[in-house]
Amino acid sequence: MPSKAQQRYLLASAVAGVAAAIRIIRRRNIHVPPQPLPADFPVTPKDVVDAAKRVRPHVHRTPVLTCHGLDELAGRSLKFKCEVFQRTGSFKIRGATNAALQAPENAPLVTHSSGNHAQALALAARSTNREAHVVMPRTAPAVKRAAVAGYGAHITLCEPTNKARAEAAQKKTEEVQGYFVHPSNEPRVISGQGSVAVEFLEQCSDLDALVVPVGGGGLIGGIAVYAKWKRPSLKIIGAEPKNVDDAYRSKQKGELVGHDDRDSVADGLKTLLGSNTWPVVRDLVDEIITVEESEIKKATALIWGRMKLCIEPSAGVGVACVLSEAFRARYPADEYGTVGVILCGGNLDLAKASAKLFA
Ligand SMILES: Cc1ncc(COP(=O)(O)O)c(C=O)c1O
Repeated sequence: MPSKAQQRYLLASAVAGVAAAIRIIRRRNIHVPPQPLPADFPVTPKDVVDAAKRVRPHVHRTPVLTCHGLDELAGRSLKFKCEVFQRTGSFKIRGATNAALQAPENAPLVTHSSGNHAQALALAARSTNREAHVVMPRTAPAVKRAAVAGYGAHITLCEPTNKARAEAAQKKTEEVQGYFVHPSNEPRVISGQGSVAVEFLEQCSDLDALVVPVGGGGLIGGIAVYAKWKRPSLKIIGAEPKNVDDAYRSKQKGELVGHDDRDSVADGLKTLLGSNTWPVVRDLVDEIITVEESEIKKATALIWGRMKLCIEPSAGVGVACVLSEAFRARYPADEYGTVGVILCGGNLDLAKASAKLFA
């Protein structure tokens, strides 16, 4: 017969064990089936699953890498989904290909983009034997412009504002009777981008949270629709530069608001949420965390130095987020021990970027 003290110890151990098991079930979602999502979303989990199958022959299944040094800095295990190795150098080929494969027969594809979607659409058009017309801000990095031209797309330059881009693209669509593929708000683009999550969750069964850079919200939108259905307890956190914080402000206010068109070193994230991506961000994304320009540069340089991965600053935004004080405070490492970070792209002008990052 155990003594009173032993009984108390056994009881306390049993209670602690049950509590730990509940925590694990809640976090890992063991035996929790996929959950239905609101019916009025522009994209369903099935759209994402179908898109993942559709684009699979056309895109790379990118690797997930880890880095001991970064784990130490973050105080937890980080899993990096390396879309930096994706075709055209970013995840954008997924959504562009999904849209191109479903576009009206023979229609030229038209878009506006600061670069990564432009390259992706240009390649997707070439692979599906279509013409591509791309409106780019005149400030887009030369390396991105050259790549778009290299895939055979026709380029029209415009002023570097969201309004100027949209107007020029509309004009071009009418002129060539094309099929306009919005870089982030087009449902087929959103579901194509969601294929990142389909792969990532297949590759890693132990993620507690996912950090995703946010521009127009296509990437986080597709990821959230799939991940919150497949694994409802997984936290989805958007990472945004403070200078272009429309997603953060929209979440705070509960309605879609813009930003001040300030500049950011993360040029891929200067776009705005749209009518299709906003409801998903509003309802399925747990939180948006913003980071300063200095944090973005530091995090980007860190990945270059520690992982030898040439990511662009837009990808550095996710890394800066997971290393930020705000993230640590909101998502303590003892509860969120394994965090996935999307290294979304690696297209940059190396000479210019290294001068900026290491200045
Ligand atoms: C490298 C990179 N990361 C993230 C994003 C943001 O994606 P989304 O506009 O779908 O939010 C972009 C958008 O251009 C990008 O180029």
